[in-house]
Amino acid sequence: MKTKRLVADGTEAATHYEEAVQALRSGELVAFPTETVYGLGALATDEEAVQSIFTAKGRPSDNPLIVHIGDQEQVREFARSVDDVAEQLMDAFWPGPLTLIFYKKENVLAPSVTAGLETVGLRMPDHPVALQLLRAIREPIAAPSANKSGKPSPTEADHVFTDLDGDVRVIIDGGSTAVGVESTILDLTTDVPTILRPGGVTKEQLERVIGPVEEDVAVGKEEAPRAPGMKYMHYAPEAPLFVFNLATAHLNEAIAAIHASGQKVAVVGPEELYDDEADWYFTIGRLHHPDEMAANLYRALRQCDLTDADVILAIETDMHGVGQAVMNRLTKASGGKTYESKQ
Ligand code: TXA
Ligand code: MG
Repeated sequence: MKTKRLVADGTEAATHYEEAVQALRSGELVAFPTETVYGLGALATDEEAVQSIFTAKGRPSDNPLIVHIGDQEQVREFARSVDDVAEQLMDAFWPGPLTLIFYKKENVLAPSVTAGLETVGLRMPDHPVALQLLRAIREPIAAPSANKSGKPSPTEADHVFTDLDGDVRVIIDGGSTAVGVESTILDLTTDVPTILRPGGVTKEQLERVIGPVEEDVAVGKEEAPRAPGMKYMHYAPEAPLFVFNLATAHLNEAIAAIHASGQKVAVVGPEELYDDEADWYFTIGRLHHPDEMAANLYRALRQCDLTDADVILAIETDMHGVGQAVMNRLTKASGGKTYESKQ
């Protein structure tokens, strides 16, 4: 299949949306930018189209997809019930990087979207391209991140081309995504709302609106998670990645030790710690600016794949705000490995 790039701004934009809508309506895949990462979209009511998402990504079939909508009212078409807490959350954070898990209505969405679960994840993305597409088509779009399964999520159209050229009909190029890590997933089917994946909206922000929120025990650990996708190896570059804790190790010593063993090292870290002894140093923002680190993390992980580094060290970030999501992704990308554990 020939993959076409459509650039979202400029005079042709309206025609582009029409073309993308046509492709989706005829059961094809369209990748598009959201405020978090690029999504790989199919009509959520078209079982065959949804199955082709799993094929294109190489995604395990037990991993459900988030359904994107362009209008808050559409929630009632897919969720069995919508209580006050849900309303408050949608009013406060939609459109935005928050996915809400509801009990689903039966026989509305294609079965593969929810991978056999009784629940469905819904989100209204805060990106002009995504919203325009959703509003033009007036149908729900199922969309996981537009990467091959296991790879870092795409934050630029070129990342989507790298992974999925020839597998999708259209990639809408809307530039770099702003948030850079995926949406927060909040389960509303538990007694106390539970975060299944930390993301663009923080726990503190949620609690300010609805009071206490819990965190799934599996977040940040290697236990069986309730968001099925969280159990798989994720976001991983080619070379082994180790999370590097500044409190327990010195970067220059680590680099020297790696060099002494005849290996090359790429470092992913903050500007302030730039070390020219590293074979590659990819800066992802300023030390205490987790939002910058979130925005640049996946690009840096993909840049590591363009080097011939044998080892990647990713420096721990602080856990404020979206920093928790950044550390969650780094932990996953490392498969739980830290630099100390390598000694
Ligand atoms: O920011 C985002 O959420 C991006 C953009 C494209 O919207 N999408 C995204 O989708 O990250 P994906 O498929 O890469 O990750 C979705 C995660 C998976 O871990 C999946 O298991 C979980 O959401 N999930 C989806 N539906 C669920 C459900 N009903 N219950 C629990 N977890 C669910
Ligand atoms: Mg993903």
